[in-house]
Amino acid sequence: MKELLNTKHINFTGICILLMFFILSCANKTEKKETSIYEDIVQPDKEKKEKEPVKKRSIGAKLFIQCAACHNLKKGEPNKVGPNLHGVFGRKAGTYKGFIYSNALKTSNIVWDENHIRNWLEKPSEYVPGTTMAFIGITKKEQQDALIKYLKNETSK
Ligand code: HEC
Repeated sequence: MKELLNTKHINFTGICILLMFFILSCANKTEKKETSIYEDIVQPDKEKKEKEPVKKRSIGAKLFIQCAACHNLKKGEPNKVGPNLHGVFGRKAGTYKGFIYSNALKTSNIVWDENHIRNWLEKPSEYVPGTTMAFIGITKKEQQDALIKYLKNETSK
């Protein structure tokens, strides 16, 4: 009788343990499911957030990164190493208030338009010999086009 009880007892515990495992594994599955659903919902958002600025940034904007070390574009922003470029199209070269230009640029008699800017971007030191703008130049026409388009847009806001 005792033995019987014992085996019964063992069987009962055994079943209990099995049940617990079963329940636990189910719980695990639902947990996993929840996180994967959660990830499905969250992940695209994450990706969007990471990719958006890159996607939105035009070629011109990317090219301007190399100018941004020295130039601001928006109205009222301070001069940096180079003058603020706000309103540069139609402006006489070397005349932005509060910036000390080279004599070369001040006496160049350039009024900035697309053509002058293109030549300037190609090689500043050749277009206005004696300029203090230390920039090697952009020779690819597509890149000049993209940057000019960006500048036109951003300096007139
Ligand atoms: C290392 C700093 C530096 C970088 C980089 C630079 N510039 Fe300049 N930029 C200057 C300086 C300094 C001047 C004034 C030059 C002078 O007085 O001869 C200037 C002048 C100019 C002017 C004439 C502004 C005026 O008021 O007459 C334009 C247009 C210009 N830069 C555009 C650009 C663009 C576009 C880029 C990027 C492709 C660029 N610059 C990169 C320093 C820089």
